[in-house]
Amino acid sequence: MADMRTTFCGITFENPFVLAAAPPTDNLEMLRRGYEAGWAGAVMKTTSVPGTPVPLKYPMLTGITHEGRRLFAMGNIDLISEHHADEVCERIATLKREFPEKVTIGSIMGSCRDDWEKLVWMMEEAGADAIECSFSCPQGTLGSKPGAMLGQDIGLVREVTGWIKGAAKRCPVVIKLTPQVADIVEAASAVKAAGGDAVCASNTIPSLMGINLETLRPIPDVGGMTSYSGLSGPAIKPITLRVIAEIARHTGMQITGTGGASTWQDAVEFLLVGARNVQFCTAVMKEGFRIIDHLKDGLLSFMERHNFEKVEDFIGYSLKFITTHDRLPGISKGLSVIDVKKCIRCGLCYVACLDGGHMAIEMDKKRRPHVDREKCVGCGLCAAVCPVSDCIHIEPDVEE
Ligand SMILES: Cc1cc2nc3c(=O)[nH]c(=O)nc-3n(C[C@H](O)[C@H](O)[C@H](O)COP(=O)(O)O)c2cc1C
Repeated sequence: MADMRTTFCGITFENPFVLAAAPPTDNLEMLRRGYEAGWAGAVMKTTSVPGTPVPLKYPMLTGITHEGRRLFAMGNIDLISEHHADEVCERIATLKREFPEKVTIGSIMGSCRDDWEKLVWMMEEAGADAIECSFSCPQGTLGSKPGAMLGQDIGLVREVTGWIKGAAKRCPVVIKLTPQVADIVEAASAVKAAGGDAVCASNTIPSLMGINLETLRPIPDVGGMTSYSGLSGPAIKPITLRVIAEIARHTGMQITGTGGASTWQDAVEFLLVGARNVQFCTAVMKEGFRIIDHLKDGLLSFMERHNFEKVEDFIGYSLKFITTHDRLPGISKGLSVIDVKKCIRCGLCYVACLDGGHMAIEMDKKRRPHVDREKCVGCGLCAAVCPVSDCIHIEPDVEE
C-alpha cells in the first residue's frame, strides 16, 4: 500500500490532510472529533493576547451556489477567535496529551511586537508543534495603514517575521500570506529573508458578496450595513494553485496549501504544484469531518494508479510544465473534436461558438453539432461550456 505520510517543516503528518484555522478548529470537542475521524493535524483558529477585543458581528457567512444548491464559494466576515491565547493554549496542551501523534499547530495574530513575542512563547510552552502567523487578517496598529493586512506590506512582512523568529526557540514558524498582493513571490521572499521556516498559501480573497435587489443593501446585511467578506471554497482554487506554484517555482520554500480544496483531486493538484500538505476549511464546514475518508481513499488510489510509493514522489511534479506565454510551444492551430455519442444536443457549444468563438460549429436538423475544420482554431470555448464530461476535446490540427 502507498505511504500517505508527508513531512512539513521536519514534522511528519500521517496524511497530507489538515484542518485549517477556522470555526471547526475553535472548539475542543470538535477538534477531538476531527482527529478521531482521521485528520492528520489542525491549525487552531487564530488567537490573540488575553484582553484583545474581538467584536464579532452576525450574520457572518454568505454562500454563492450554482447547479441548484451546490456551494461554489463562501464569504465570511468572521474575525479571529473569541477565545484568547490562554484558553487556546490549554486546548493545545490537552490535544497533545490525548493525540500525541497528531500535528497541532497554533495560529497567532498580534498588533505589536510584544504581542507577537508573547504569543510565540505561550504556544511553545503549551506544546504546539508549529506556529502559524496570520499576516492576512486586518492588523491593529502596525505599519503605515492600520487595519490593512500585514501581508500587503513587504517591509513589515520581513520585520515581523524577524521578531517572531527571534522569539521562537523550538517551533517552526509558518507565515500565512494573503493572495491579495501584486507579487506573491516578493512576499514569500521577504519571509524567507527573515528566516521564516515556511509559508501558508494563501487565504481568502477580499470580496463583496452581492446586493439584495429587494432591499438594495449589500450582503451579508448586518443591521443594514455590510463590510467586505473573505471569499473561500471551490471558486478560489485556481487562484491558490497559482499562488502555490509561483512561491514554489521562485523561492523553493516549504508550503502548506489553503484556499479552495474540497476533494482529494484538489488536494493532489495542490501537492503537484509544490504544497507539502493541504488545509481544508469550507469543505469541512459544509460536509463535515467525515470527508477525510474520501480524501484518504482517493489519494491512495491515485498513488497506486501512478505507481507513486510515497507523497514525496509527486510533490511539485507539475511545476516543470508551467512557463510564460512567450515560451509556450508553437502550436498555431487546434481543432475541436466532438464525441457525438456523448453529445446531448443541448446546443450550448453551437451558441457559444456562434457569438463568442469563430462561427465554426453548425447544427444539423437533428441538433447534432459539426465542426468546420476551416473555421475552427481550437480555442477551447466549446469544451469549456459543454455540460458533458469528456464530450469535447481539443487536438492539434494536423492536416492529413
Ligand atoms: C468562517 C471562517 C473563519 C476563518 N478564520 C480564520 C482564522 O481565524 N485564521 C486564519 O488564518 N484563517 C481563517 N480562515 C481562513 C481559512 O483558514 C482558510 O485559509 C480559507 O477559508 C481558505 O480555505 P477554504 O477554501 O478551504 O475554506 C477562516 C475561514 C472561514 C471561512
